[in-house]
Amino acid sequence: MAPPPLQTAIVTGAGGFVGSTLVRSLREAHVRVVGIDSLERGFADSLDGDVPLVHGDVTHPDTVARALAQVGGRADAVFHLAALIQVGESVQQPARYLHANVVGTEAVAAACAQARVPALVLASSAAVLASDQGDRATLDETARIGPESPYGESKRRAEQVLAAHSAQTGLASVALRFFNVSGAHCGCAERHKPETHLIPLAIRSALGEVPPLRVFGTDWPTPDGTCLRDYVHMRDVVASLRAAAFWAIAASAGSHRVFHVGSGVGTSVRQVIGAVERVLGRPVPYIESPRRPGDIAALVADVGRLRAELGVHPACDLDQMVRDAWMAWLAQAGAHATVRGNRSSIDP
Ligand code: UFG
Repeated sequence: MAPPPLQTAIVTGAGGFVGSTLVRSLREAHVRVVGIDSLERGFADSLDGDVPLVHGDVTHPDTVARALAQVGGRADAVFHLAALIQVGESVQQPARYLHANVVGTEAVAAACAQARVPALVLASSAAVLASDQGDRATLDETARIGPESPYGESKRRAEQVLAAHSAQTGLASVALRFFNVSGAHCGCAERHKPETHLIPLAIRSALGEVPPLRVFGTDWPTPDGTCLRDYVHMRDVVASLRAAAFWAIAASAGSHRVFHVGSGVGTSVRQVIGAVERVLGRPVPYIESPRRPGDIAALVADVGRLRAELGVHPACDLDQMVRDAWMAWLAQAGAHATVRGNRSSIDP
């Protein structure tokens, strides 16, 4: 019987929300995993204590090689998730975003090509897409590219770097354009440094732990005046990452493919607030605020290719997504309170 094609993997950005969930999911499937994280934005305590972690910046040419050395120089797949991801911050610090996300991808791809890794999967973003898409309600992989933010531009260039490496070196690669990753899976809760994402902020506003939520723009050309986004459950995101690795492992040398990873359903900021209020059973205090620089009115995926070629059929139950996010967050807050009670060290 042929051995399973994914036995050893490297995950960059392993201390992030997606990275830590992917690491846990792979380990549950008995994949040997080495994580990489600079811990500038990621959390070491998001990983189980026995996960090997290379502390390093992926823009450094040796970082992936150091991780590969821990698995005898060979991995079946590298998942490149390490990135700066905040649209608003990227408008303030464009050069920093280009460096981290483009140079980082270049270094990871070069290390993979050098070590003849069979599959490289990049976490790209819907932010590469143009805001003007005519009358298309959902966007497939042929949609017009035209990032509105330096963050989106950095991911567009990262995709180009990946495609060029595949063409030149034979590295098989996939770029997954994530829409709004939400919910929770494998018990890993969403947290970012600092937290800027809508669902965790809405939950914390309802609990009175942060100031009232600011709704960024109520004059967008959408049905209720707030932005439409495609919130996709973490379970489906992880399924897409794993399926993408299998796709690349099975693909011929030099293959490169882009997939949109969403739920296929557009949800407004007001609808998210409604879901948080239903699930938590308490109001979300909010203030109607000006538009946030870099935002666009609507971003909703067409997931036809994801379904047809990767076999991933995303769910689109917003209340379930909010419930799973809240449950994971409660469990994590409880775990941290316990650790603090025992006077162990923990991030604030
Ligand atoms: N929003 C608010 N108030 C907040 C935070 C967010 O109104 O305090 C709004 C935003 O304006 C946006 C929506 O909620 O309309 C979602 O915002 P997030 O910050 O949660 O996520 P983004 O849409 O900005 O970005 C995310 C990922 C990107 C990805 C993008 C694709 O972080 O990597 O989704 O849709 F590109």
